[in-house]
Amino acid sequence: MNRLVVVSNRVTIPSAGAKAGGLAVALNELMERQGGLWFGWSGRASDDAASTSKPAIVDHGSVQYATVDLTHEEYRRYYTDFSNGTLWPLMHSLTEQMHFDRRSLAAYRAVNERLSDILLPLLRPDDAIWIHDYHLLAMPAALRARGVTAPIGFFLHTPFPSPDILSSVPDAAVIIRDLLSADLIGFQTANDAENFAASAHRIAGATRLPGGSLRIAGRDIRVGAFPVEIDPQEFARTAETASHNSDTQRLRRSLDGQSLILGVDRMDPTKGLRHRLAGYRRLLETRPALRRAMTFVQIAAESRQEVDNYQYLREDLDRMSGSINSTFGEADWLPLRLTARGGSRDTIAGYMREARIGLVTPLRDGMNLVAKEYVAAQNPDDPGVLILSKFAGAARQLGAALLVNPVDADEIADALDNALRMSRPERQDRWMALWETIKDTSALGWGRSFVNALADSGESQGGRV
Ligand code: G6P
Repeated sequence: MNRLVVVSNRVTIPSAGAKAGGLAVALNELMERQGGLWFGWSGRASDDAASTSKPAIVDHGSVQYATVDLTHEEYRRYYTDFSNGTLWPLMHSLTEQMHFDRRSLAAYRAVNERLSDILLPLLRPDDAIWIHDYHLLAMPAALRARGVTAPIGFFLHTPFPSPDILSSVPDAAVIIRDLLSADLIGFQTANDAENFAASAHRIAGATRLPGGSLRIAGRDIRVGAFPVEIDPQEFARTAETASHNSDTQRLRRSLDGQSLILGVDRMDPTKGLRHRLAGYRRLLETRPALRRAMTFVQIAAESRQEVDNYQYLREDLDRMSGSINSTFGEADWLPLRLTARGGSRDTIAGYMREARIGLVTPLRDGMNLVAKEYVAAQNPDDPGVLILSKFAGAARQLGAALLVNPVDADEIADALDNALRMSRPERQDRWMALWETIKDTSALGWGRSFVNALADSGESQGGRV
């Protein structure tokens, strides 16, 4: 079995006390089994040449973690400007939010090259390399240019746009060609995989082969969907335990019998938060009888504040929530509690179990694991209702949720009304259908299916494994 080399912008080193999310745990578990190296950014910016060019190495059993700092300029150009100001909105088809500066594109490519230079001496001949997400689209080509022959897999955690939308960024062809140096390219849904294959054909001239593969310059590249999963059984236990803890009890007391509507997101323009508040406002306007019977708690954890659009979002949400509360609130009841502070995994799990409605309405989302977590957190005897955007990858699996168009305030208001009035038998039927689709999945199963497919595609490239 190959040693597994995971490359991602952020690296999660297991530490006592901190409970990481399912994905990081699954990657760690995979690496522990077959030996592993996790390489990426340290999360720090520094102008000290030693920490930007020499990796800091931490050993943890059979897994090694190697991280480097970015310079302040790289942080600004590669992480903030190009990754999050250009690629993130582009991948989510939000082109009007997209900022473009060719100097940042150049810095992005340079960081991908620089990370490849630093990774190169850490590689061994028996490695299988798995690169993650939109920060590192140029890395498969950068590694090949340095003579790496190991199998390279790439997985995109975000959606992938249609060829027309993709073409709105200058140099789209280069981005695609760079990615095509991988042997396996994985996406969250079949739709994303199709968008990529169509783009590779139209923009980069790749030939589409039956079965979803692509051919370019005599090489075959496998393209497929590998929807990310959580650990539903473990999350269900966490939520059950957390429902007795002091955080959840305090929340329950503060609700005083009202139905809890819960949103949990990073404060990100893709999450549909402005539209979500507008939908809730529409509900308050059109159904006055419901007003004192519910409270909407929106946790919108602060994120990427260096990017202008994230700051504007924060300002808009503050304004909108203030207006909702001053218009509809009373001395002893506020309709909305908006907080930019995130919570621990346990606390959120407890809140989710408490919530009559999980409101998950991104404008577009690769998968959205909050939707799966909300399902897993429910009490089977008295489950809540998931309201889910039809543009989240998770909607492909969670069809028994109330699916909505996230920009339609009336549709959100109607779904909230419907969910608040829904009978227990209907809630149970819907929840059971959702649970059935996720209960036998696991984050580890997801990781394994990708790594196995990578081993297969490596073999088919002439026994490089
Ligand atoms: C999304 C991306 C991840 C990213 C995370 C947090 O889930 O797909 O790659 O790490 O957001 O964003 P941040 O910019 O803080 O890393």
